[in-house]
Amino acid sequence: MTIHRFDDKRFIVTGAADGLGLATTRRLVSEGARVAMVDLAGEKVAAAAEEFGGSAKSWVADISSESDVESAFGSAVEWLGGLDGFVNCAGIVDFGTTHELPLERWQRVVDVVLTGTFITNKAVIPHLLETKGAVVNVGSIGGMRGAPWQAAYASAKAGVINLTKVLASEYVGRVRFNCLVAGNMSTNIVGNSGAELPPEGVTMEEFLEEYGRRVIGPNRIGEPEEMAAVAAFLLSDDASYMEGSAVVVDEAATA
Ligand SMILES: NC(=O)c1ccc[n+]([C@@H]2O[C@H](COP(=O)([O-])OP(=O)(O)OC[C@H]3O[C@@H](n4cnc5c(N)ncnc54)[C@H](O)[C@@H]3O)[C@@H](O)[C@H]2O)c1
Repeated sequence: MTIHRFDDKRFIVTGAADGLGLATTRRLVSEGARVAMVDLAGEKVAAAAEEFGGSAKSWVADISSESDVESAFGSAVEWLGGLDGFVNCAGIVDFGTTHELPLERWQRVVDVVLTGTFITNKAVIPHLLETKGAVVNVGSIGGMRGAPWQAAYASAKAGVINLTKVLASEYVGRVRFNCLVAGNMSTNIVGNSGAELPPEGVTMEEFLEEYGRRVIGPNRIGEPEEMAAVAAFLLSDDASYMEGSAVVVDEAATA
């Protein structure tokens, strides 16, 4: 039986050109929603939107730029005719030995991952207050424990988990905020981010031994669809009493 929890519901999804954002868009549309797909990769997100016919439309924006987000989200909400939910999937990774990491690389990751979550959440709140809507911010298990060579990413993702809790407590009963704390999944985030693997001065063997042991689940890497299913649940009325949760989906990697 196909579930149809989102007939006539309207969502914005960032990072929608690829990976989890695209899988989430697919899941929401398959359950009846219309989705505004936002991504920095303009041509890619426009091509991705074609799959969904009239149920989705694309916008280009850098989530770390408040003016980009205000303009794209404003136009997206106009097209949607209101907003029932938001999923912040846009993100980048970077790997580097901390005492050699240039400040600009730290700053870029924090700007996109943490400040981008603030900017986008700030932009959707007024619309979601009107509909008692829901937000899913995408965290990472790297934000729950030490993830070597990921000082900026893991610290910013820890911030995403706590920012989500701040917002949940501030808007409780009016907008539902939850964080999907994703474990390792099979996407091209390293290539899309232009990140270097293994980090300079570290062998692939050392990297996999240390990083893999802490972050990858015991049996396999997860699929974006397995995370998207949880994001959809968190947006749905099935999760009506969930506010401020950090929902870990990681095949016991952090258990
Ligand atoms: N892949 C994993 O193992 C993993 C694990 C835990 C958490 N996550 C998180 O899941 C989310 C989705 O990642 P993914 O694995 O699907 O990666 P992905 O690279 O497939 O998708 C991320 C998308 O975000 C877009 N993007 C990057 N910077 C942007 C910006 N400044 N503004 C707008 N769009 C931007 C990219 O163009 C890309 O399409 C990210 O927040 C990531 O940190 C991923």
